[in-house]
Amino acid sequence: MTLSPLVQLGRRLGLGKVKRFIRSRWNERQEAWFQRHQVAFAQDLSFTEMAARFPERNDMHAYAVHYYAHNLPDALRQHRTYYKQSLRGFGENAFHAMWWMLLREYQPGLCLEIGVYRGQVISLWAMIAQIVNFSCEIHGISPFTPLGDAVSVYREDVDYLTDTLNSFKHLNLPAPTLVKALSTEPAAIEHIASHSWDLIYIDGNHDYEIVLADYRLCRDHLAVGGLLVMDDASVNTAFRPPQFSFAGHPGPSQVMAEYAMHELQFLGAIGHNNIFQKI
Ligand SMILES: C[S@@+](CC[C@H](N)C(=O)[O-])C[C@H]1O[C@@H](n2cnc3c(N)ncnc32)[C@H](O)[C@@H]1O
Repeated sequence: MTLSPLVQLGRRLGLGKVKRFIRSRWNERQEAWFQRHQVAFAQDLSFTEMAARFPERNDMHAYAVHYYAHNLPDALRQHRTYYKQSLRGFGENAFHAMWWMLLREYQPGLCLEIGVYRGQVISLWAMIAQIVNFSCEIHGISPFTPLGDAVSVYREDVDYLTDTLNSFKHLNLPAPTLVKALSTEPAAIEHIASHSWDLIYIDGNHDYEIVLADYRLCRDHLAVGGLLVMDDASVNTAFRPPQFSFAGHPGPSQVMAEYAMHELQFLGAIGHNNIFQKI
């Protein structure tokens, strides 16, 4: 009797690996289905127009998934491919569409990311600023070590600071200002407090107390009209992630619901990224 190819694969690789393989193939198929051409999503909208036309969280997310495939400049898709290789970055294709729509519309002059990892988001900002042709000063605060938290573990075998700067060189982008510190350390707090930011992206430690400290400091030093984007913050919202997506973690989601939703203007969300404006 011949065994089915899947059973043979299972015996060779182990059940866990086979399950992960099937899940990742299924996710790719589902995302490809979301990316099929859809007339309802075909128009190239600004972030504000998109949020007005598609107020439901799942529709905003579906619009961004579709946008990535049909409207995003090629250079930015290539940037995403570069960061997906060797797992250099996290997130979804749809987030590249989100950053493009946001930066093209708001053109923030002074931008900060908390939690840089290997520089996917800050290098994307630099590239978008070049394409749209506006001046954008980019800062990042991160330990540049494998430091994780209650829900995250990172690779030990990467020199995160050198790796980030090498990627900027590889992509022909001007070097960013990087502060090697935890967001809760004095050097980082002073750095954040000594500027008035047009855009801050919080994607560092995911534990509630740390996210809350990051949120409070950033809220206070965001320029009026500035944007605050909170990553991993859509748990317990109306967002029902498709298989290839993810609603986030409890810590950032709780801070988002308890504070940001009441203190800032909610502009919209793409998957687990929630976008606010200081009024
Ligand atoms: C999820 S990763 C960021 C991913 C990145 N935004 C991207 O899209 O590729 C979180 C990063 O935050 C860093 N981190 C952890 N605790 C931090 C803290 N207290 N302050 C700043 N960064 C922190 C981690 O070491 C890691 O590099």
